[in-house]
Amino acid sequence: MKNFLPAEYKKNEKLKINHSYLVEQFADYSKIFKEVEKVVKKGDYTLGKEVDICEKNFAKRTGAKFAISVGNGTDALLLSLKALNIGPGDEVITVPYTFVATVGSIVTAGAKPVFVDIKEDYNMDEKKIKAAITKKTKAIMPVHWAGRPCEMDKIYSIAKKHNLHVVQDSAHVIGARFRKKHLVNFGDTCTYSMHPLKNLNVWGDGGFIVTNKKVLAEKLYLIRNHGLKNRNNVEIFGYNSRLDSIQAAVANYKMKNKLDNITSKRIRNSKLLDKLLSKNSNIITVERLKYLKEVFHLYHINVKNLRTRELLQKYLIKNNVDAKVHYPIPVHLQRAAKYLKYKKGDFPVAEKMANTSLSLPVHEFIDVRHINHMTKVIFNFFEKQR
Ligand SMILES: Cc1ncc(COP(=O)(O)O)c(C=O)c1O
Repeated sequence: MKNFLPAEYKKNEKLKINHSYLVEQFADYSKIFKEVEKVVKKGDYTLGKEVDICEKNFAKRTGAKFAISVGNGTDALLLSLKALNIGPGDEVITVPYTFVATVGSIVTAGAKPVFVDIKEDYNMDEKKIKAAITKKTKAIMPVHWAGRPCEMDKIYSIAKKHNLHVVQDSAHVIGARFRKKHLVNFGDTCTYSMHPLKNLNVWGDGGFIVTNKKVLAEKLYLIRNHGLKNRNNVEIFGYNSRLDSIQAAVANYKMKNKLDNITSKRIRNSKLLDKLLSKNSNIITVERLKYLKEVFHLYHINVKNLRTRELLQKYLIKNNVDAKVHYPIPVHLQRAAKYLKYKKGDFPVAEKMANTSLSLPVHEFIDVRHINHMTKVIFNFFEKQR
C-alpha cells in the first residue's frame, strides 16, 4: 500500500467555501520559520526547552496541573490507558460515533471496547452507561464530539461510584468548558490532538495529555520516553511518543498568536448559523445549553433521512459549499469491529446521525458573507423540494 495525501487536505479549487484551509492557516509561515530556526540553531530537537514551554502553555490553556506532550492524539489516549494499567481482560466503555482513533487506542492497549449509544447532541448518553458496566469495566472514555463537552458531572459521578477511570477524548475541545470548569477536573486525563485539521494545529502530528494527578503525570512523562528517568536508568518499559521540538515551536506560536481568534471565530460563525438555520424546520441543529462552552471543531446539521442528506450535500457542493460527512459509518459497523459482534440497530442514535448529519465549514476564514451564502443555498434546496 502506498502513502496517500488525505483527501481532507485537498482544497477543492472549484469551491469558494472549503472545509480545508491548510494553506491559509499557515500563511504566516515565515514567522514560524524564525521560531523553528531558533530550535534548529540550538540543536534542540526532542524534549528540550521548546517542549517545556509548550507543556507549560498547554497546561495553562487547559487549566491542568500537568501537561504531557506526546506524538499525536491517538498516543495520548493509548498512553493514558497504559499508565492506568488498562489492558488485556479489561473493558472500556466508549461510543461508536467517533473517529476510529478513540476505539483503536482501546484495542491497541489490549482491552475490549464496549459501546454505549450517543444522544442527539452527538455525545455519550450518560443514561446508558450503567447497563454497560461489568466486572471487567476499568474505564469510561467519553468523546467530546465536535467541540461540545459531554455531561461530565454525571459521567464522572457514575465513574466514581463504580470505581472506574475516566479518560476524556478531548481531541475536538481545546478551550471548551463544562459549567465554567476545565474538563480536566472531571476524570483522570484529557487527551488532545494537534493534527493540522484540529482547532490548535501544528505542521504534522502532535498531541497532549493533561491531568491533575501528580503520580499519573509522572508515569506519563516516563512512558512517553521509553520509561527513561535519565539517560541510563529505565524505570518502566514505555514508548517513543514525544512531541518534536519543531512542532512544539509551531504550537507555541499558535497558542500565543492564533488560538483565541480561531476559537472565537468558530463560536461566532456557529452561533450565527444556529440563528439563521433555526428559521427552517427542515434543518435540525443541536440544542445549545448555557452551561456548556462549545468550541465548534465541527458544525453539524441534521436532515430527515439519508436521501435528503445526499441530495443536500450535492446541492451545497454544486453551489460552492464544501459540506462534509463526519462520519458515514459508525465504528461498531466497521469491518475492523466485526469481532465485537455488534450489529445494525444496536446503537440507533449513532446510526441515525451517521445517516443524516452534514458538517458545514465554520473555521476562522469563514465570514458572515459565507454564512449567508450557505444558509441561502440550504433554504433554496428545501424550497425546490416542495
Ligand atoms: C475524536 C478524535 N479522537 C482522537 C483523534 C486522534 O488524534 P491524532 O490524529 O492526533 O492521532 C482524533 C483525530 O482526528 C479525533 O478526531
